[in-house]
Amino acid sequence: MSILRRIAVVSRNPELHELAQEVAHDVFVADDLIEALDIVETVTPDLTVFDESHAPASIRAFLDKTNPTGSPAQAAIVAALEPTSFDEQDYTRAGVSYYLAGRENCRRLRDIALQLRDRAECSAAGAATDDFFVDDHAASVAMVGRSKATHHVLKMITLVAQSRCNPVLILGETGTGKEVAAKAIHALRHPDEPFVAVNCAALTANLLESELFGHVKGAFTGAERDKTGLCELAGNGTIFLDEISEMPLELQAKLLRVLQERTFRKVGGLKDITCTATIIASSNRHLKKEVQEKRFRQDLYYRLNICPITLPPLRSPERRDDISCLAEYFLKTSEIRPTTEGRTVSITKLALEALQKHDWPGNVRELRNVIERALLLETTDKIGLGSIVIEPPDGEDLSGSLHPARAKDFSLEKAERELIAHALHETGWQKTQAAALLGITRATLYAKVKQYNIQKHTPHGHEEHPAPARAYMPEPVAVG
Ligand SMILES: Nc1ncnc2c1ncn2[C@@H]1O[C@H](COP(=O)(O)OP(=O)(O)OP(=O)(O)O)[C@@H](O)[C@H]1O
Ligand SMILES: [Mg+2]
Repeated sequence: MSILRRIAVVSRNPELHELAQEVAHDVFVADDLIEALDIVETVTPDLTVFDESHAPASIRAFLDKTNPTGSPAQAAIVAALEPTSFDEQDYTRAGVSYYLAGRENCRRLRDIALQLRDRAECSAAGAATDDFFVDDHAASVAMVGRSKATHHVLKMITLVAQSRCNPVLILGETGTGKEVAAKAIHALRHPDEPFVAVNCAALTANLLESELFGHVKGAFTGAERDKTGLCELAGNGTIFLDEISEMPLELQAKLLRVLQERTFRKVGGLKDITCTATIIASSNRHLKKEVQEKRFRQDLYYRLNICPITLPPLRSPERRDDISCLAEYFLKTSEIRPTTEGRTVSITKLALEALQKHDWPGNVRELRNVIERALLLETTDKIGLGSIVIEPPDGEDLSGSLHPARAKDFSLEKAERELIAHALHETGWQKTQAAALLGITRATLYAKVKQYNIQKHTPHGHEEHPAPARAYMPEPVAVG
């Protein structure tokens, strides 16, 4: 197996190309620094190799543009097969990490690749535990995110958990992490007590009542023995009422009584039982609107709405920053592909950009699914754009789109033409960049542009079919 994922070689020397091929899965060859700039910005190689024809000053200028922070994750190396007038110091001062002089030394490329891979794995493993969370508490409940919104939500969670606020209401669209937030409150307030959850949308009124409050033997047909309800089982812990807006109206009245009196009765029972648990309710509906439409009791709404915690959608400007953090976290922690165990899986810049552009109507849950799907589809240890498959919004007409499973027009030529036009459009007609995106050589790209008569204003996939079913530009593969 190759040691590195991608190497860029800025040289016309085939000997260097061969050396690079021995250590990397994909080798991108650039004839000059201008072309190299395009390639490096497009594919972010793990290593860029220059030959002796490039003076230290030119390499310095190149690195200032491509790697201004001097990140070791994008190392540069000079492999001088032929004698040069510069020495190691000249190149090191220019920001080059390694200088290999002479044929024999150039064989050390393999050792350097191994070192770089080990270093990348170590720093990624560190990132897995360090960078995802606002603080230790967030880490202990695996509440990922460093955005302004997540900071604010965690502050609210801490305030509420440390107060006596009971009940607690958590609001937010589907998949924003309401249950995660409920568990965080529980973990702060009484971590050693039980946490019990019930989905109010999943049961009929009778079953839900018996689930919440329990029943006595003989209370109804089939009640063959006494049953303890969740309000009792929760003890001094938490009872989580998920999707409270779906609770039948008659049961809402009974819940209101629990909130006011802190007591309840089993179905068919006569004894008042005290409820000492923290009651946390969640809703992805606009509860006030439900009240206006008479589907939710107003008095219950006011009782619940003391100090609501609202989880903003992932697409909101104040939470968007969480997308990359969550994506990396799911990559590192997913167990969907057992073969990735112990290996570092990362994501390309382009794939990450595709994630950042999406609106995530299914929020964090949708993002998690997309990452897990990508882990299944991707065959290398770097998730590329080709493995990012995003579901189109409901009801969208996809006919004719490039999604292989849905295309009505099965003409390969048409698909290829659209793909090329799309890549050119995306890269602002930077042909080297577009060729790298498509995984073909520039020469092939020129030939295809001519063959299909693609012009700058040729409509591409996106314009003809507004929202694509997937980010369908393939992962770049070897050029040259
Ligand atoms: N901040 C977060 N950090 C890590 N994982 C998260 C975060 N928020 C949500 N998730 C994950 O996203 C998924 C959905 O989260 P959760 O079930 O809490 O959402 P929800 O708001 O309750 O959704 P629904 O309204 O559909 O019930 C879960 O797999 C959860 O682990
Ligand atoms: Mg939920």
